[in-house]
Amino acid sequence: MAKWTILVLHALSISAVAAAEPAVNDRGVSFEQFSRGGQLFQKHCAECHGAAAQGAPDWRTRGPDGRYPAPPLNGTGHAWHHPPAALAKTIRDGTLAIGGSMPSWKDELAEDDIQAIIGWLVSRWPAEAYEAWERKFGKTAGGRE
Ligand code: HEC
Repeated sequence: MAKWTILVLHALSISAVAAAEPAVNDRGVSFEQFSRGGQLFQKHCAECHGAAAQGAPDWRTRGPDGRYPAPPLNGTGHAWHHPPAALAKTIRDGTLAIGGSMPSWKDELAEDDIQAIIGWLVSRWPAEAYEAWERKFGKTAGGRE
């Protein structure tokens, strides 16, 4: 009888531990990061990069001011060629200082906000782009750099 009680308690504690682990998708991104990242993206980034991160229509062509329009971040542009740390740096610092037109976000977004946005983006990339990125840089989304 006592033995059974111990076994049951043991099983309960194992399931409690499993429940405490945040569930992540196959790209290492938790549901919390995914939903917060999506909201932050709509609030701060969609006006230039598009609500679905599809980029500005002519993103490959410089505008009259010599600057490029916002590129897609949905896995069809170049973003997946960059390591996660480089994506985070672009978001943190923007590109104004290097002649581009993206503002810096480091005063408005905490580091885990930036990771949540990257998590939302990579979760939506086509499998081909995501798998190439993961092969190159490791499973690093969702703040697991
Ligand atoms: C005012 C328009 C604008 C806003 C707002 C903006 N971006 Fe950008 N972003 C750009 C442009 C333009 C580029 C391309 C670099 C350049 O020429 O400045 C870029 C580049 C990037 C890149 C690098 C992409 C690559 O292929 O290398 C990332 C990542 C990025 N932006 C993420 C974000 C995120 C996340 C936000 C919101 C927090 C955001 N951007 C808000 C205009 C913007």
